[in-house]
Amino acid sequence: MRSSISIMRRRTALLLSAVSATPLLSVRAFAQAGAAPTAPSTADGGIVDEDTDTPYVPTPIDVVERMLHLAGVGSSDYLIDIGSGDGRIVLTAVTKFGARGHGIEIDPRLIERSRQSAAKLGIADRAQFLAQDLFESDFSRASVISVYLLPKVMQLLTPRLAALRPGTRIVSHDYAMLADWQPDMTLRMYVPDKPVGRDRHSTLMLWTVPASVAGRWQFDLPRAQGGGRVEVAVTQARQILSGKATIDGRPLDLLGLRIDGERLRFALEPAGRAERFRHEFDGIVKGEGASGTATFHARGAAVPAKWEARLAR
Ligand SMILES: C[S@@+](CC[C@H](N)C(=O)[O-])C[C@H]1O[C@@H](n2cnc3c(N)ncnc32)[C@H](O)[C@@H]1O
Repeated sequence: MRSSISIMRRRTALLLSAVSATPLLSVRAFAQAGAAPTAPSTADGGIVDEDTDTPYVPTPIDVVERMLHLAGVGSSDYLIDIGSGDGRIVLTAVTKFGARGHGIEIDPRLIERSRQSAAKLGIADRAQFLAQDLFESDFSRASVISVYLLPKVMQLLTPRLAALRPGTRIVSHDYAMLADWQPDMTLRMYVPDKPVGRDRHSTLMLWTVPASVAGRWQFDLPRAQGGGRVEVAVTQARQILSGKATIDGRPLDLLGLRIDGERLRFALEPAGRAERFRHEFDGIVKGEGASGTATFHARGAAVPAKWEARLAR
């Protein structure tokens, strides 16, 4: 049994290195398209995602730092590294970025090593390591998740990560989510000391869990702005939004509609351009409501006001 596990781990390590060794074009296409719903192939045509036993391959330290910068990690963050290896991502998030967090790792020797490092650094109270199977772990405490896991695992994790609290950032080394959830940001960097692959590059991807905003948003314009009942009908595919707006049933132009975590933004302009105004809305979504600021632009003046809207799904 033990030898079949180690053969499987060796085989998976070879596959991981083979994926990283695929030509630039296919790595980039993979990163931008997300993990394909069908199994991605290695350069020699081998299937890479037939098991979920991600081997231990450490992320080089300069890549760790870039991942944490990309995710904007800071002192108010709680980071969970899923499959934490020797603990380096959590340890760096705590020592260099002032965050707190924990690693989840299935290999008890790596857990022991991580705990010893945390103790040596004097940060054992802020960096914990849990000997757990990632498929049975709870990630709900995280404001930031980091991952360096095989494509199949990323595919299996996508629905769970997408269901985390809106605003949670997820940063991944080399492997994407399911293809229907494109990263908000992708960067590729030269990594001379990368332990796998031949092209010595890493791809880093960032996602922010979007609030659920599909439905009909309704609010009243203040009388000073002409009054009227505004309705913005929003459709949503992950972080991609589209919509239509009306005032008292008459069409308005809807511009810049976007969701960043919990932050909903859009602007309204008259459809016919007979009148000249631009109303901008910027609020935080909580459940079936949003609240924030409206800025009414007309005749060269910008008037700020509180803004609240309700969502009918
Ligand atoms: C590619 S390494 C990444 C290590 C670390 N996150 C880093 O980037 O340096 C993946 C890690 O996931 C761990 N792992 C694999 N399957 C796991 C599972 N089911 N639950 C928890 N950890 C797992 C492995 O033991 C390994 O340490």
